[in-house]
Amino acid sequence: MSVAHDSTVIVGAQWGDEGKGKIVDFLADKADVVVRFNGGNNAGHTVKADGKTFKLHIIPSGVVRKKLIVIANGMVVDPEVLLEEIGMLKEMGYEPNLAISEKAHVIMHYHKLFDSGSDKNGKIGTTGRGIGPAYSDKAKRTEALRVIDLVSGGFRAKMEKILEDKKGELLKFGIVRSAEEFKEYKTAIAEEYENYADSLRPYVSNTAVLINDALDSGKNVLFEGAQGTLLDVDHGTYPYVTSSSTCAGGVCTGAGIGPGKIKKVIGVTKAYTTRVGEGPFPTELKGKEGDVLREAGSEYGTTTGRPRRCGWLDLVVLKYAKMVNGLTGLAVTKLDVLSGLEKIKICIAYEIDGKRTEHFPSSAEALEKAKPVYVEMRGWDKWNEREAEEIVKKGVKGLPENARKYLEFIETHVGVPISIVSIGPGRDETIVV
Ligand code: IMP
Repeated sequence: MSVAHDSTVIVGAQWGDEGKGKIVDFLADKADVVVRFNGGNNAGHTVKADGKTFKLHIIPSGVVRKKLIVIANGMVVDPEVLLEEIGMLKEMGYEPNLAISEKAHVIMHYHKLFDSGSDKNGKIGTTGRGIGPAYSDKAKRTEALRVIDLVSGGFRAKMEKILEDKKGELLKFGIVRSAEEFKEYKTAIAEEYENYADSLRPYVSNTAVLINDALDSGKNVLFEGAQGTLLDVDHGTYPYVTSSSTCAGGVCTGAGIGPGKIKKVIGVTKAYTTRVGEGPFPTELKGKEGDVLREAGSEYGTTTGRPRRCGWLDLVVLKYAKMVNGLTGLAVTKLDVLSGLEKIKICIAYEIDGKRTEHFPSSAEALEKAKPVYVEMRGWDKWNEREAEEIVKKGVKGLPENARKYLEFIETHVGVPISIVSIGPGRDETIVV
């Protein structure tokens, strides 16, 4: 018999970089297990805690609270990066209590080179971490290596067979230029990955069993999404998306749990919007206004350092995120970044070919044509450190009146209660509503 458990999914409600790391860290206090279920080290989750800044790419943010953390089957794992991150955390005094799924797929050396090679014209603007090529091999089924292959006997033979099949691609991308180089490459990669396997073996298990056992015994499990709704391979702004399921549904396939086990789904949104990489972005501010938001919000990528494109909050996006994720709550981050602006705009609808719509379009071409319909709201003054402490103590009612009105407008228009408001990067700069 199973005992009542708690389970919360945290997803990005926009194009990623919404501040999920901070929200997961905040909620992880009460969690027993923190699970990542999609993507790989294309993510960049920043947590500021214990006087330190953690920039995590593959390890779930729950590591900072020293919880059991899981890299589940829906992820793609770059063993080199994972081992570097484990090493960095150990040095900082945060030895990860980590379980890695046997069924997660391995990002191989050539995946990274294929990624930067095939996206060299910046068509999608990928992070160049080998994510797309690794997921492509997973879907193709005949040229993929899973963690279970990596840590079991027979890895070398499997890998060599795959490399034979990929020889043409390796030559095309200039990774090898002759039969001799191909032979050397095979040996070098086999040795490199066998070394990674030795270090990772102790962490590897069937994590779906572990997660379901935790849920069935009444534990509190937090599922940490990476990227955001609009980068989902099905529901995002295709083809300008990542290659995994970033939405709440991705938890079921990516971690191996039934949908009935999910209790809450929190969508994290910035108080404005950002996007990295290519693709349409209706509320983008291209001029000075965009620069103001970028500088105020330090909007530069955690993974690639690229400047993020910035714009006003888009409620068409948030309503869409509510629908495809079944959001039960919203966490609004970086409200402080809007402080000091005289006027703030919120997009409530699009005009496409002269027609008004509140539905998020299915094609990038239609979204490209979307003209935002804005509501303009009055801004509020900046608050100082002491005032910020007061705000956190008092809760939402401690916020300036216009900031409260801004939040109320979002809540009413989207139809989802705001459960968390973040007014700064630190743990203590968080308001629970
Ligand atoms: P990929 O995931 O590296 O294949 O990149 C595909 C698209 O997703 C690009 O536009 C990236 O900039 C974007 N992307 C991937 N991961 C993140 C993330 O963690 N935050 C924001 N954008 C991301």
